[in-house]
Amino acid sequence: MKKIFIVANWKSNKTESEAKEWLTRFKINDPSSDKEIIICPSFTLLPILKSYILNHKSSIKLGTQDISLFEEGSYTGEVNGKQIKEFADYVIIGHSERRKNLNESDKMLEKKVLMAKKYKLNPIFCIQSEKTKIPKDVEIVSYEPIFAIGTGYPDTPESAENISKSVKDNSGIATVLYGGSVTSENVSSFTKMQNVSGVLVGKASLDPVEFMHILLYA
Ligand code: PGA
Repeated sequence: MKKIFIVANWKSNKTESEAKEWLTRFKINDPSSDKEIIICPSFTLLPILKSYILNHKSSIKLGTQDISLFEEGSYTGEVNGKQIKEFADYVIIGHSERRKNLNESDKMLEKKVLMAKKYKLNPIFCIQSEKTKIPKDVEIVSYEPIFAIGTGYPDTPESAENISKSVKDNSGIATVLYGGSVTSENVSSFTKMQNVSGVLVGKASLDPVEFMHILLYA
């Protein structure tokens, strides 16, 4: 049976009290071992999530939504790999929102992947199409067509399957996820595809009940 990755990308959402409320309502502490659940909150929420995981002996993993290009030092505003590794095992790199709003270039993203690897963080590298450049050493890719992100109009499972297969064939990467308007209603149509190894969920992960249903049906 293939391992299914379910990644919650909270983006720039939730205050401390909202995150605590999400955790109070989230009732799956011990997901089955064939599912890797990764929550990627804002940096400010990492301590709360980490203590929840420790207190509940939960197998949930944490990820961040960015990593600094730089090592620790005089880089105002940056959060570096060494700091992230205290909390997280994964880092989302190359999301289209950052490429667009923060002008992240292929070159920067390549450096971020290197930095993640250096601190033993596993990059979840987002591609917007088959043509997106994938830096070397990436082991998890998430295919996220821009038209599907936050629109309520996901790509078709067949298209996600074709792109996943072609990424695997061309790059040898074993784990390709799909992201873009995933909900509890459509998640199984993606995860049942042979070459789709899971989903990256934005908006629908903000509601703990909807996210629990996604985990259930994935
Ligand atoms: P969405 O976001 O689930 O809200 O469409 C997905 C993403 O940003 O990858």
